[in-house]
Amino acid sequence: MAEHFYPLRVAEIVPETEEAYSIRFEVPEELKDAFQFKAGQHLTLRTELGGEEVRRNYSLCTAPADEELMVTVKRIAGGVFSNWVGEQLKAGDTLDVMTPHGSFTTEFDPSAKRHYVGFAGGSGITPVISLVRTALSVEPGSRFTLFYGNRDSNSVIFLEALAALKDSYLGRFELYHFLSDEEGDVELFNGMLDRETCDEAIEHLIDQPEEVDAWFICGPGPMMDAAEAALLDRGVAKERIHIERFTAGRPSAALAAQMAALQEEAAGLTLSVTLDGRTRKVEFSAANILDSAREAGMPAPFACKAGVCATCRAKVTKGKVEMAARYGLTDEEIAAGYVLTCQSVPVGEGVAVDYDA
Ligand code: FES
Repeated sequence: MAEHFYPLRVAEIVPETEEAYSIRFEVPEELKDAFQFKAGQHLTLRTELGGEEVRRNYSLCTAPADEELMVTVKRIAGGVFSNWVGEQLKAGDTLDVMTPHGSFTTEFDPSAKRHYVGFAGGSGITPVISLVRTALSVEPGSRFTLFYGNRDSNSVIFLEALAALKDSYLGRFELYHFLSDEEGDVELFNGMLDRETCDEAIEHLIDQPEEVDAWFICGPGPMMDAAEAALLDRGVAKERIHIERFTAGRPSAALAAQMAALQEEAAGLTLSVTLDGRTRKVEFSAANILDSAREAGMPAPFACKAGVCATCRAKVTKGKVEMAARYGLTDEEIAAGYVLTCQSVPVGEGVAVDYDA
């Protein structure tokens, strides 16, 4: 699908901690359908700063049933957009917002009796709290266990909202805080969610880890890697592990060199690109398929351009492409022929990609 940005008014900026803010948007009646979302999804925000277009993805912290569109932004050192939000954005301003997307979610079913477990670190709580809210309210027979890592109690986003959820859903929501710079009585909770802590948390705080229906992981890279490895080493099936990355690691020198060689070989090849029901021939004129399509005037969607968000996802319907980073796709999507076009280079003539598939 082509990108669909809509100008939305900021209804409110809610300070969550010293470093984090939630932005609540006003959604006019006629856009309510377009902005329906699933728990765990995110929005791409677009604005112009210093004469340049800036796009960022932020996860929704609300549940679909709340009927409120709200994302949470954590300020990062040197972060152009996050600091602008913290210092300048105010209620009444307008931002371009892309309709919700993302696959860090699951199908909720009111008759289900499931056990969900989340590992969240820092602002990685944002999509996870959306999932917690939804699981507990939509599935009265289900429960959620959350392991949440932070520096200290002042930096815990949604501290009160999580405590309130615990009170409202007694016995169905278990919450464990892990603090790296603050010491409490229980040794296990002092420190980061590293591999050892993840192992112990699974072993001692989950009654039947093998019975957990879905695991959700979102936070800093090392935390996500630790939690994922802890689960895989216990034999948890990959399809039960959902991971949401906000940033990508640097590609290895070998991969960067391999992609550069492929780009050189692919320069000038013709591809066929389908977007919003129209198919056009496009020359491979840039570093990847996404940029080539955009250079040809097609509004192919993107946000991170780092292989993380999957906004640029398309299906290869003919020929072969090579992809560098692929964090934003599941194994099933890759097997079904989906690629991240911001990371993809055609191999040979006759490649066709379809953004509508
Ligand atoms: S634009 Fe984010 S994965 Fe391609």
